[in-house]
Amino acid sequence: MPDADADFPVPAPLDGHGPARIIAMCNQKGGVGKTTTTINLGAALAEYGRRVLIVDFDPQGAASAGLGINAHELDRTIYNLMMEPRADVREIIEHTDVEGLDVVPANIDLSAAEVQLVSEVAREQALARVLRPVLDDYDVILIDCQPSLGLLTVNALTAAHGVLIPLEAEFFALRGVALLVESIERVQDRINPRLRIDGILATMVDLRTLHSREVIERVREAFGDKVYTTMISRTVKFPDASVATEPITTYAPNHPGAEAYRRLARELVARGDSA
Ligand SMILES: Nc1ncnc2c1ncn2[C@@H]1O[C@H](COP(=O)(O)OP(=O)(O)O)[C@@H](O)[C@H]1O
Ligand SMILES: [Mg+2]
Repeated sequence: MPDADADFPVPAPLDGHGPARIIAMCNQKGGVGKTTTTINLGAALAEYGRRVLIVDFDPQGAASAGLGINAHELDRTIYNLMMEPRADVREIIEHTDVEGLDVVPANIDLSAAEVQLVSEVAREQALARVLRPVLDDYDVILIDCQPSLGLLTVNALTAAHGVLIPLEAEFFALRGVALLVESIERVQDRINPRLRIDGILATMVDLRTLHSREVIERVREAFGDKVYTTMISRTVKFPDASVATEPITTYAPNHPGAEAYRRLARELVARGDSA
């Protein structure tokens, strides 16, 4: 078991960029910190000089909104890329205020894709196809999945190299994880043999409570060193930062929440899960 208190080295600068490693943020439970982790891990990796692309893959569009993009006013989003074989992702990508951090926005249009994709050829591979032209432009691509195990999430798992599972440090958090792991294994078995679970991230942690500590203990028993030693504490600064449509790393750069996501970024690099 890695030492929970040991820090990870600041990642060495990169000489060039790409090919991207693709990480899907998945948990079919809502409100566990998928979007918050996508935005803030992405921003922290960008601070370390990584070129990061966030794919908003939830019709709610929270990742787009949280990065200051008003996706509900956009005519063309990830939905069009999924449905139009000749659409080019480079025309849809938006830059954010964080240098090196770009986003493919989503809005409610994406909710139609699930139904429309069902009758398509290679319906599980639509997202992988969309991302192919920009793999060499980025070091990491983070996919912010919607809270479901439906066809969109299967697309994310098909495109991904790894899965990061945010898990709320609450009593019933482990309920449902077995089902998620089964879905991951099914995709791995049938479509994407390279896919693996990168790690489990405990979110909304309050180590002052026995409850939180017990949940973390149980998660460690179940998943061993798959659990990141970095944990994300519960703090109102996260909802505050999303209201301000910024990552916490720029909204409150010295806050422990910002430091936690920088530490997670260092841990990913140290584990070899990001350039
Ligand atoms: N560590 C945290 N502490 C407190 N609130 C958080 C934390 N992480 C996320 N939140 C808030 O909880 C809500 C759900 O988080 P979100 O990242 O949107 O989850 P998901 O994408 O899994 O649905 C949001 O309002 C977010 O600001
Ligand atoms: Mg979300």
